[in-house]
Amino acid sequence: MYDVLIIGSGAAGLTLALSLPGSCRVAVLSKDIITEGSTVYAQGGISAVLDATDSVDSHIEDTLNAGAGLCDSNAVRFTVENGAKSINWLLDAGVPFTRDEHDANRLHLTREGGHSHRRIAHAADASGAAIENTLVSQVLQHSNITVLEHHIAVDLITARKLGHRDNRCIGAYALNRKAKRITPIQARFTVIATGGASKVYLYTSNPDGASGDGIAMAWRAGCRVANMEFMQFHPTCLYHPHAKSSLITEAVRGEGGRLLLPDGTRFMPRFDPRAELAPRDIVARAIDHEMKRLGLDCVYLDISHKPKDFILNHFPNVYATCLKFGYDMSKEPVPVVPAAHYTCGGVMTDQHGRTDVDALYCVGEASYTGLHGANRMASNSLLECIVYGQAAGRDIIARLDETALDVDIPHWDESRVTDSDERVVITHNWDEIRRFMWDYVGIVRTTKRLQRARNRIELLLREIDEYYTNFRVTSDLVELRNLALVARLIIRSALLRKESRGLHYTLDYPKADPKMEGIPTILDPITTYHPH
Ligand code: FAD
Ligand code: SIN
Repeated sequence: MYDVLIIGSGAAGLTLALSLPGSCRVAVLSKDIITEGSTVYAQGGISAVLDATDSVDSHIEDTLNAGAGLCDSNAVRFTVENGAKSINWLLDAGVPFTRDEHDANRLHLTREGGHSHRRIAHAADASGAAIENTLVSQVLQHSNITVLEHHIAVDLITARKLGHRDNRCIGAYALNRKAKRITPIQARFTVIATGGASKVYLYTSNPDGASGDGIAMAWRAGCRVANMEFMQFHPTCLYHPHAKSSLITEAVRGEGGRLLLPDGTRFMPRFDPRAELAPRDIVARAIDHEMKRLGLDCVYLDISHKPKDFILNHFPNVYATCLKFGYDMSKEPVPVVPAAHYTCGGVMTDQHGRTDVDALYCVGEASYTGLHGANRMASNSLLECIVYGQAAGRDIIARLDETALDVDIPHWDESRVTDSDERVVITHNWDEIRRFMWDYVGIVRTTKRLQRARNRIELLLREIDEYYTNFRVTSDLVELRNLALVARLIIRSALLRKESRGLHYTLDYPKADPKMEGIPTILDPITTYHPH
């Protein structure tokens, strides 16, 4: 039995693990190798008020503006006020943030959409790798932390599922992907830190594991989820048939990059006075609009007016990736398209990361803290991971002397299942969900498209459920089952929101409804559906 089981080894999970004392027995589960997840791919950086000309109030105001009337102002203040402290914690851990070229005692701060100041600390254009690798090296030095790589959590174990009245989480069943065996992992406290669900869309900047596992597991365990309709599309991913998941950081626009049509005309000033530095929902929608209006496959991002040295210093990895696909960004515009990037909604938590289920916490992209509202501002996500990872750590420490529930956990029952005879069902359903989510539940929605998507997902969920009951569980099946459930939650939430706000834009209700200001979409598994 562990004191704390953390499912996920990205910025949120590792921050929490490092916040716990050495006397605490901690297990960190990772479905792949420890470093894999969205964190390691983060480019732009992490936001915080670090400059005398900037202020906490300004960061709060920008976050609230980007969130389009749906942020929880307490969550925003709490996060922003802890920003500088979080950066200092990362610096103490050894994160090699880029320094100001004129004053090595200061960090170089870049700028991104929605921010009215330069406030993004970064490590060139590989900020996530710098953070993830530093946190991993710290975790590996702690003998109280056991890292279980290639272990995918299949489902949470709650006392209620075992027939008790209390709905307390007591661990999770996990599939060891190498040994192909499912075993229970018991813990006094369990933390979901499984990242987002952008893999539910055909085109995404996210790695393959972003299948919303934690959100689906929490839902099945009885947690409410909120704001799932607000899926963020990043405006600029490299457009190339082989450039899977290649983001081009918003910092390129922050440092002067411009969006162009094929004939070289700039179009963003027509859509917003902030032009290329408008919040992401506005830029992604403008690109989508121009692509549909002119029948284009992509638009172009141009920073070739800047000196080559500047580009190589600030964006060495993006430069190398573009070059690999035949584009020299110091000489020419590069083709870009929007792609699914971030899950603004998630498992509802309080300011300590607590969920509706006792002893179950959720931190990072899987959670809904209220910080992002209807649209996350760039670089606020890594900050949320650190701030809430530490907050949940503090809360767990304060509860470590609570008595553990004495429950016998049954072994995983495989007596009635066989090996699948038709794996194609999994790949086919996986592809089908991602395609109709892209076509019907994407950047621009209509009620009719959402209804079509709802009909399809209900059919697929029944099929997947039957498959799950009859065949031996594999990691592909775990992810498909979760992805389908999350798709249902997104569609359901989108159908409930009869207005356009932030990332949710529907042609049937093209304006924001002032009555909906401050009202999140909350789905409750107890009253909305039977847990699936
Ligand atoms: P992740 O880092 O995604 O980690 C999830 C972890 O959960 C992984 O270890 C995974 O293996 C594990 N996991 C998932 N399911 C299971 C399961 N069933 N069982 C066991 N383990 C499981 N945000 C910013 O603030 N600034 C940026 O510059 C920035 N750039 C980005 C660039 C890209 C390309 C992407 C994709 C995202 C970017 N973001 C950025 C968003 C940000 O990186 C993520 O929101 C953040 O890293 C999420 O961290 P996390 O710890 O919640 O999850
Ligand atoms: C980027 O670098 O453009 C991503 C920043 C973010 O998602 O916060």
